[in-house]
Amino acid sequence: MSEPRPVAPGGTIGILGGGQLGRMLALAAAELGLSCHIYSPDRESPAFAVARSRTVGDWNDEAALSAFAGSVDVITFEFENVPAATATFLAGQRPVYPRPGVLAVTQDRLAEKKLFASLGIDAPAFAEVNAAADIDTGLARVGRPAVLKTRHLGYDGKGQAQILAGDDPAKAWKAIGEAPSILEERIAFDRELSVAVARGRDGAMALYDISENRHVDHILATARVPAAISDEIAEKARDIGRRVATALDHVGVLAVELFQVAVPGGQRLLANEIAPRVHNSFHWTQDACLISQFEQHIRAVCGWPLGNPVRHSDAEMTNLIGAETEKWQILAAKPGARLHLYGKAEARPGRKMGHVTRLLPRRPTPSPAADRL
Ligand SMILES: Nc1ncnc2c1ncn2[C@@H]1O[C@H](COP(=O)(O)OP(=O)(O)OP(=O)(O)O)[C@@H](O)[C@H]1O
Ligand SMILES: [Mg+2]
Repeated sequence: MSEPRPVAPGGTIGILGGGQLGRMLALAAAELGLSCHIYSPDRESPAFAVARSRTVGDWNDEAALSAFAGSVDVITFEFENVPAATATFLAGQRPVYPRPGVLAVTQDRLAEKKLFASLGIDAPAFAEVNAAADIDTGLARVGRPAVLKTRHLGYDGKGQAQILAGDDPAKAWKAIGEAPSILEERIAFDRELSVAVARGRDGAMALYDISENRHVDHILATARVPAAISDEIAEKARDIGRRVATALDHVGVLAVELFQVAVPGGQRLLANEIAPRVHNSFHWTQDACLISQFEQHIRAVCGWPLGNPVRHSDAEMTNLIGAETEKWQILAAKPGARLHLYGKAEARPGRKMGHVTRLLPRRPTPSPAADRL
């Protein structure tokens, strides 16, 4: 099938999922004269408030999905757990980018690991777990401490259990619901990094500077640029991003989460996971770059030329989780800070309510010794 034509200004993008990522995609689309139609099973979706059209429907409601497809020019997703069958069904009616095949890999931690291995990308040692007994054999291979992670549907550390020295593996197996899993060695990393690649329908790529990320309770707390890494590690990270995006024939933005580990005589990168979408660790691109990750994604899926990802400022993005959003007045008064709130009514613990990006003038040469903002 030949590639569909670009979606011109005035056109409509269908977005599967209605969370904050969908909301920020819709805002970026509006700036290019494009409209969005959000499809989400959740009546309270934060993206609804900023989109021209909305559908509240289940992922398997074929009538609602067909009506949605009929109202849009192209379809994308902001949430990688959209059932692959839903994306495939829609692809029979409208172009879907990223192509639905990407989901088969990124919805399954085992398939992700296999992709990394096939591309020669290092990742933490792991073992496949389908039954309690596999954990014992797996521990013999990866050692302790280890992390048991469900293959499907994990986010913000959900679906994960640690197995430390002396822990009973049966407890971890119960904790994750005895679901098909992988057992992974726990990495004593120096820092967490991520790489984001925007890839157009024509295979052109634009990469953002590498982000350095800090997690608290398995949830991203801060992301900052420049990362305190060498040029060599930055290039290795970019190379991983390019190879993954190319192998998946991805269209849109994709991020790969990485661990940087000290090894004798240097540093090495291990790939953690792939997100086939815009990523929380690149929200600073909204304020510190000429073209944000959200606009890049919209450009890519609509068949437009990619924008320039150049970064004009140093930045640190802090997530506002749960009750942290209550200090909005203080944050709004801070010079050099830009506040982004997602319009979620209820500030439940652990829920991402917004983020704040602090900007500083860009220093000429990022160095590994760069101080924190
Ligand atoms: N093997 C590991 N060794 C050390 N820390 C780990 C390991 N796996 C995960 N973590 C920590 O837990 C965080 C969340 O894990 P991971 O990214 O695998 O899961 P997730 O629940 O899918 O998260 P996300 O919200 O990024 O989708 C990581 O960013 C890292 O801080
Ligand atoms: Mg992660």
